[in-house]
Amino acid sequence: MPSDSMHCLFDSRTIAARVSELGAAIDHAYSRAQAPLVAVCVLKGAFVFFADLIRQMQTPLELDFVRLASYGQQTTRQEKVHFSKDIEVSVQGKHVLIVEDIVDTGHTLAYLKQVFQARRPSSIAVCSLIHKTGRREIDLPVDFYGFALDKGFVVGYGLDCAEAYRQLDAIYELTEPASAPRG
Ligand code: PRP
Repeated sequence: MPSDSMHCLFDSRTIAARVSELGAAIDHAYSRAQAPLVAVCVLKGAFVFFADLIRQMQTPLELDFVRLASYGQQTTRQEKVHFSKDIEVSVQGKHVLIVEDIVDTGHTLAYLKQVFQARRPSSIAVCSLIHKTGRREIDLPVDFYGFALDKGFVVGYGLDCAEAYRQLDAIYELTEPASAPRG
């Protein structure tokens, strides 16, 4: 259930319409692709978006999942330096589409691109549900995105706050600073 300390930014109908547009845009971008496409979901936050997005696409694809883990307890984005779960398919010679729920500082995406680039894919592109610009530290292109935000701590539709709210079918901004640990 949403709480009093959050307000809806994008409801489920708005999200569905945008995801449909994104699927069409991605299909168009890969319509002349010669190599296979691998769509990579970055767990956990992207799982809801990923499931909806791939079902709005016609381009044949393989799908796989990664999960990043942090060292230590004082975690910062820069410390997210290894996979706790790597993909299992080969991306060599294939097009890779990284699907994120949010690009914030950019450190996670920078790490992912660096790791995948070393595996010699045909290309790497990024699709993020939220393209959040106000705290960006590493400027990398986000090829496709659902919604641009400057700031704010957003939850729902896969995004969490201390693991809560992922199941909500809309995207909310937390308005209570105490419940918004970053953003
Ligand atoms: C979130 C999100 C991105 C990352 C973006 O992951 O899913 O992977 O942060 O942040 P950045 O651009 O500042 O690096 P989180 O660590 O919250 O894990 P989760 O997806 O499991 O919630």
